[in-house]
Amino acid sequence: MKTFYITTAIDYVNGSPHLGHAYEKVLTDVIARFRRLMGDQVYFLTGVDEHGQKVQQTARARGVDPQQFCDEISQEFRALCAKLDISNDDFIRTTEKRHKDVVAKILQQLFDQGLIYKAEYKGFYSTRQEQFLQEKDRNPDGTWPELFGEVTEITESNYFFKLRQYQDWLVDFLKTNENFVFPRYRQKQVLEFLSEPLNDLCISRPKERLEWGIELPFDRDYVTYVWFDALLNYYSAVAEKPGIWPADFHVIGKDILVPPHAVYWPIMLKAAGIEPPKSLLAHGWWSINGSKMSKSTGNFVDPVSFADQYGVDALRFFMIREMSVGQDSDFSIDQFLSRYNSNLANDLGNLVNRTLNMTNRFAGGVIPAADESTTGDEPETALRALWESTKPEVLSLCEGFQFHVALERTFAFIQGINRYAEQRAPWKLGKSTDAADQARLRTTLAYMAEALRLGTALLAAVMPSTVVKINGVLGHTAGADWQADLVWGDKLTGNKVAETAILFPRPQAAEKK
Ligand code: ME8
Ligand code: MG
Repeated sequence: MKTFYITTAIDYVNGSPHLGHAYEKVLTDVIARFRRLMGDQVYFLTGVDEHGQKVQQTARARGVDPQQFCDEISQEFRALCAKLDISNDDFIRTTEKRHKDVVAKILQQLFDQGLIYKAEYKGFYSTRQEQFLQEKDRNPDGTWPELFGEVTEITESNYFFKLRQYQDWLVDFLKTNENFVFPRYRQKQVLEFLSEPLNDLCISRPKERLEWGIELPFDRDYVTYVWFDALLNYYSAVAEKPGIWPADFHVIGKDILVPPHAVYWPIMLKAAGIEPPKSLLAHGWWSINGSKMSKSTGNFVDPVSFADQYGVDALRFFMIREMSVGQDSDFSIDQFLSRYNSNLANDLGNLVNRTLNMTNRFAGGVIPAADESTTGDEPETALRALWESTKPEVLSLCEGFQFHVALERTFAFIQGINRYAEQRAPWKLGKSTDAADQARLRTTLAYMAEALRLGTALLAAVMPSTVVKINGVLGHTAGADWQADLVWGDKLTGNKVAETAILFPRPQAAEKK
């Protein structure tokens, strides 16, 4: 069986991690965890992009050597992964030898194949974006868009990769691989981009202008720049590991789909004789309280301190529940608190505590077996039927990356368990000495616990530590076969439950910490 290989973009280390980085890692983690739960062998790579002008400049401005600067910021990105329970198997840094060796090898190979040539280049250059600009990048009034910062005209000799030679191949490739880009409508944007002739890709910078990069093996006066270095991380991390390449999914933001990932990357691989990745998943962008994230205006969420304040799983849940993969979303604290209170504290938190309370009060803390004389009654049949329809729907939504809807359905099931509890009212049944009521009570307690176990299992990819906690208070440990665990049964019968569980404290209380 081929390993399911999934990657995130590698983050620039010119600043600390922000919410966009956190989202991409959590989304990729949810897919990785879901595939593992479905029985796949998974290899999950993330990492950092350490070379380039911005890093060189930022390090200089702080008076430290670029390597030391990268060491420090890379550590923050690693810490972010640990904080957010990201289950990555590997973390690559582009300053590592394993990466630089592969980049040098592939550059040399392409050079030997005549696919890299030297030419004089004259053009408008944006230092902020580290790219030469084209006429079509101008505003209608002839000025340069603000995102490019200062734009200067420069002439220099550089090395170019023969991108254009592969344009027809790429168009054919995209036409035969209709699902190369998810969401599908973004594949059209790639084809639109390819409707104009491609320029060959400038892949070098003279060392006088940029030292902080990987030296070209065939010309020591130059380093390779941005994309040729960064994109190859996906391959260099696993080049020595058999059975992993090609990548099944590169998860990236929509800003780096066209042209880097959808055009440069498949062509680079094709030219080098390496199989292209199977697909690209482009997610949307987060704004915060309605406007663009920016450290300078203070419109910024530090994911680590946010997770410290409100809980890692609450943050993971919110990001995945709120964003439809591919679309943009807004991160507003009001919306966060509203989902936190309604779904986490009320629906789930209350269900757990009710289940524990009732079991402790009326069954000595031991989950009873359902009484067969009552399991054919309407409330029981309806709850089981709700499970039987929820489960396949959630699995297929997850297969199609519709995680936000999958969570909505999962919480609809959890709400259904609460409705069942209200309908059966074990707090009343428990006070009755009637034998039929006692039988209903046993069934109710058994059904609440079993349904809670199942609903919780559906959260495993999104809220891993919450799942462990809830299973823990139910005296349960999830089995190795997730799908087998998703079958309604009597796995909890006889388990001793905890007195109480603190899962989602009121955020006001959390804020005071
Ligand atoms: O682009 N919302 O690095 P990066 C959602 N080093 N996602 C966001 C976001 C936001 N507001 N802001 C950024 C780079 N991202 C390159 C990648 S890959 C070979 C090299 C996403 O630190 C962004 O779309 O600017 C990208 O996928 C990732 O964060 C890293 O962005
Ligand atoms: Mg960026």
